[in-house]
Amino acid sequence: LCSHRHVRKPADPGADGQALCAGWLAARAAGGHRAEPCLLVHLGQVCGTRIVPCPCGCCPPERESMKFTVAIDGPAAAGKGTISKAVAAHFGFAHLDTGLLYRAVGAKVLGGANAVDAAEMLMPADLEAGNLRTAEVAEAASKVAAIPEVRRALVEFQQSFARRSGGAVLDGRDIGTVICPEAEVKLFVTATPEVRAQRRLLELQASGSETTFDEVLADVLARDARDAGRTDAPMKVAEDAVLIDTSEMEIADAVDAALAEVERRRDLA
Ligand code: C5P
Repeated sequence: LCSHRHVRKPADPGADGQALCAGWLAARAAGGHRAEPCLLVHLGQVCGTRIVPCPCGCCPPERESMKFTVAIDGPAAAGKGTISKAVAAHFGFAHLDTGLLYRAVGAKVLGGANAVDAAEMLMPADLEAGNLRTAEVAEAASKVAAIPEVRRALVEFQQSFARRSGGAVLDGRDIGTVICPEAEVKLFVTATPEVRAQRRLLELQASGSETTFDEVLADVLARDARDAGRTDAPMKVAEDAVLIDTSEMEIADAVDAALAEVERRRDLA
């Protein structure tokens, strides 16, 4: 199914009638010294095969399956969701909002389920539930997220998502520290609690909620304390993470900073 066989015949790509690989051609046009992900789409997914030309520029390019993980952590409403989606769209990587896993478990607990059972039996369809973005579910999520067995039940899914071919962006609280300590890129996106509360207030008001700034700030602070204070996988900045403080930044500038960091690491990889 993969039309990369042409890469084995780089002296004359396309001669056997197969599609040319955009990444290989771009690498060749750039002098054969850059590694590029192949952007061909197979079965609806960007191939992501890494085309690594020999530094001398005259040898056949080698290919290797590209596993490239971008870990984006940070507290609620700091902008990591927007940044993660933008990074994934820009590079053609898959994106997983890991908060949804905990929210889905939290929603089930609100419905009467046992937290550990809910985490162990979580199905992809559970992530589509309509109520996952509410403040009530967010609070339930941060409570179940402090239970070690719940976290353990969700590790494998996140790690296999991170290792998928073609690149992956995962955002959460412990991605760079626990789930993917080997991630090629680690970002920690943050902002002051007041700025985050103000952003969340506007979102909640836009969806018809009649809450106040003080209530939202109290929720933000309580969630931060719970997420940073738990013993198992607390939210913290990984030692090798790049910090992006969005308190006084336009979101477009924060996205640009993230894209630049990923680009830099991709060129080094
Ligand atoms: O990111 P989001 O606000 O949707 O996450 C909801 C809650 O899920 C967080 O407050 C946190 O307690 C928990 N969470 C976590 N680890 C992650 C992602 C989310 O503990 N990787």
